[in-house]
Amino acid sequence: MAIEDKIQALIEKNTEAELGGGQDRIDVQHKKGKWTARERIHQLLDQETFEEIDKFVLHQSTGFGMEKKKFAGDGVVTGYGRIDGRPVYVFAQDFTILGGSLSLAVSEKICKVMDLARKNGTPLIGLNDSGGARIQEGVSSLAGYGNIFMRNVLGSGVIPQISAIMGPCAGGAVYSPALTDFIFMVEKTSYMFITGPQVIKSVTHEDVTFEKLGGALTHNATSGVAHFSGRDDQEVLSMIRGLLSFLPQNYREDPPYVEPTDDPGRTDMGLRDVVPESPRQPYDMHRIISSIVDDHYFFEVHARYAPNIIIGFARLNGHVVGVVANQPSFLAGCLDINASIKGARFVRFCDCFNIPLITFCDVPGFLPGTAQEYGGIIKHGAKLIYAYCEAVVPKITVVTRKAYGGAYIVMSSKHLWGDINYAYPTAEIAVMGPDGAVNIVFKKEISAADDPEKKEAEMIEEYRSTFASPYRAAERGYIDEIILPEQTRPKLIKALESLKNKQDRMPAKKHDNLPL
Ligand code: HXC
Repeated sequence: MAIEDKIQALIEKNTEAELGGGQDRIDVQHKKGKWTARERIHQLLDQETFEEIDKFVLHQSTGFGMEKKKFAGDGVVTGYGRIDGRPVYVFAQDFTILGGSLSLAVSEKICKVMDLARKNGTPLIGLNDSGGARIQEGVSSLAGYGNIFMRNVLGSGVIPQISAIMGPCAGGAVYSPALTDFIFMVEKTSYMFITGPQVIKSVTHEDVTFEKLGGALTHNATSGVAHFSGRDDQEVLSMIRGLLSFLPQNYREDPPYVEPTDDPGRTDMGLRDVVPESPRQPYDMHRIISSIVDDHYFFEVHARYAPNIIIGFARLNGHVVGVVANQPSFLAGCLDINASIKGARFVRFCDCFNIPLITFCDVPGFLPGTAQEYGGIIKHGAKLIYAYCEAVVPKITVVTRKAYGGAYIVMSSKHLWGDINYAYPTAEIAVMGPDGAVNIVFKKEISAADDPEKKEAEMIEEYRSTFASPYRAAERGYIDEIILPEQTRPKLIKALESLKNKQDRMPAKKHDNLPL
């Protein structure tokens, strides 16, 4: 065969492979409002940067008529490309080929890019849209999942691993995304669950729809399994690009610096009025965060889950920071089980990838109640303590108002080796809130008084003015400086600069034993 014929044959093979499961199945995919694997990859990556590998891989299974059901590339498209000019590895399951089900060959393709990503210190993005283990391959496809899980763990903390759920993701298949750092879901067309509605009906007799059981809202707001959701494929893919703009390529690098356009000395007199006079009155911590970060741009993570704690990425004078903040306008900013887990995982992610932590503290304590105690708030709260203790990235804290008891300690206090700890003049740093303290310490005096209510109010006021301030903590050096609220941004930027070369590490060990 002449070279021209060979080239023509290659062109034809490529064209055929790029059609995946065929035009009919592509049409079905589009009718569902979903893009194909290749369309997704092209949208995700910088234009013309995608380099596909393993395009002609075929499954090797026999039986169930599988000899006749072979498609070039099998059920996944893999390769590499660039996002904002930086390399990434990517795989996108192709639902048009046998429902994107995972054969051994599919898993080998995925494992190949996972290995390349880890060895090259390059982020990995997985776009999931699959009917799960390829039933016809039996235990081989299960082995394929195991091989992927193993690599998820090998890559954890080495490179950022990001998953998007863009169709079905059921059974054990959910665990690869769950082992990655961030999960995105497409609203209405994606779902994740271990067992589907029919199995649930037969086992527990519960009636539940796909959407309610494992849709984007459920996992973003109720279970906390997913961190982001988008209206459609396009929105999710552009959100992934947005997230990557804050992340380094791997744990050896710093996150990407961007030449700032915002004035590092910018002050905001409006911040004086954010914390209300009454300690019982809520306020929105977003107001403070968005005021102080570059261009007021805050990339919030897990926005709909445990809103009593806010987490997300931003820049200060061009440098990426991770923000963790109590949110007084939800559950008074109390730490509960969900908030502790949400905060802890984020702190650990930031520490893995050299992202300094800025913590805003306004926390009245841990949420009381049997639901919390029986649910294990002790072990879950311990996760947040643990995460802050082991984090060796620069840690800067601002106490805006309440910092009571154990919750004060948790929120990146000096005692957990916070590097620079600021407080507003409105801060109340004490062992517990005035109401509780007075009713324990002065219980007898209050009940013996002629007017117990009046006495209680007086004692609360006295306690507040004596103890509920930043000054006791500042006297002991637990607070480095009491700052004017309007100065928050310039103060944080200067503190961050001073910590630029921080070097610290946990003692050598096999690995830690985080309370799970
Ligand atoms: C082989 C599969 C498949 C699978 C779908 N297909 N899932 N082939 N193995 N797991 C094929 C279908 O036969 C069909 O082929 C094509 O993909 C499209 O599927 P449809 O059913 O027509 O699509 P849709 O109506 O959109 O339904 C999608 C679906 C459904 C909800 C995902 O296909 C489904 O329920 N599939 C089975 C899901 C499942 O139970 N998987 C095993 C999970 S257990 P044709 O040729 O007709 O187009 C698991 C264990 C992992 O994954 C353990 C890891 C440790």
